[in-house]
Amino acid sequence: MRRREFHASEALGRQLFSDLEVMQVAGVDPDGAPVLKTVNGVVDEGWVCFHGSPAGEKTSLVGRPVVVSVEETIAVLPSYFMDPERACPATTLYRSAQARGVLQAIDAPARKARVLQRLMEKLQPEGGYVPLDADSPLYRAQVSGLLIAGLPLDVLTTKAKLGQNRTPTQRATLLEKLWARGDVRAVELIRAANPDTPTPAFLAAPEGLTLHGWLPPTRSGEAAALLAGEYWNDVFTPGELERAHRGATAWVGVTEATGALVATARALADGGKYGWVYDVCVRADLRGRGLGKALMRLLLDHPAVRGCRVVRLGTRDAQGLYAQFGFVPAQSLPPRPYVATEMVLRR
Ligand SMILES: CC(C)(COP(=O)(O)OP(=O)(O)OC[C@H]1O[C@@H](n2cnc3c(N)ncnc32)[C@H](O)[C@@H]1OP(=O)(O)O)[C@@H](O)C(=O)NCCC(=O)NCCS
Repeated sequence: MRRREFHASEALGRQLFSDLEVMQVAGVDPDGAPVLKTVNGVVDEGWVCFHGSPAGEKTSLVGRPVVVSVEETIAVLPSYFMDPERACPATTLYRSAQARGVLQAIDAPARKARVLQRLMEKLQPEGGYVPLDADSPLYRAQVSGLLIAGLPLDVLTTKAKLGQNRTPTQRATLLEKLWARGDVRAVELIRAANPDTPTPAFLAAPEGLTLHGWLPPTRSGEAAALLAGEYWNDVFTPGELERAHRGATAWVGVTEATGALVATARALADGGKYGWVYDVCVRADLRGRGLGKALMRLLLDHPAVRGCRVVRLGTRDAQGLYAQFGFVPAQSLPPRPYVATEMVLRR
């Protein structure tokens, strides 16, 4: 790789192959013709694998050197983030990985079925089918008839272009601009890839704690666990709480040095008219240190929420917290020029 600063870990490369749905396979067939195929791939026991028809073009690559590639765009950076006039600084932040090796056909029926099962788990995680089994009459013919091919992820190049070529101060400014623009995930990924980046003002947190303006869906279980005993959640199951966090338009949190989530807050918001704040919670031993206020400050400044003309919430006893951000009891507002009945569908 020419730019060493963009070199990233093999672990990230494996993660990209595991997480991303679409990959490209490129090689040269026995007649010397270039072949490039887009596949849905999956990682199985350290191999990247995909399926195809035995009569298809992919079969022509079996036994031949190939490159398998995955990539995801993290953010497109406009030139004016860096320079008000010149177009040259326009660039893209991305993560990518390439695996090289000889493509091998996988013949053992049990392994073929396992690869297909992993593919189903990746693309249809909700289930709704009988698990793949090479001996089942449901699948025997298909498993034996399909091409399953793959290569070990041994020769792996991983690249993460996430602002490493900028100074820490330039990166902190970049984070401010991305937050202002609404690239909340990019902010987190750039910070994680460059731990020496000064914390921008909007993410300022008490010593030893880190404020996050975006959390991955995989952390929804931690949020549900934090919120489980709270008075307003006794009617909701942990599964419902997790879905609520994954479905929120804004979800912010705080982690401690161990990486554990210790505070969380979320909102549903349309970015223009209305937002609703829900599930503000700080782990009991960390209350009274300003985390609740830090969460609220960040949540109200979140790109999905900051443009909302009206933000609502409900609370039993934390009015004093929200009053600091301008919230007032709804009953204290002047009546609207029309009579409205708030209606609810409860189920
Ligand atoms: C409410 C909660 C999120 C506040 O977080 P925190 O980190 O303890 O709060 P902070 O240290 O940022 O300070 C909160 C401020 O609001 C005030 N406040 C008013 N009502 C409060 C309440 N019920 N609980 C906590 N603080 C309250 C505090 O006195 C403090 O005021 P100050 O700025 O003058 O010091 C936290 O106590 C918590 O998780 N409680 C249990 C869950 C809960 O009730 N969530 C709110 C549901 S609407």
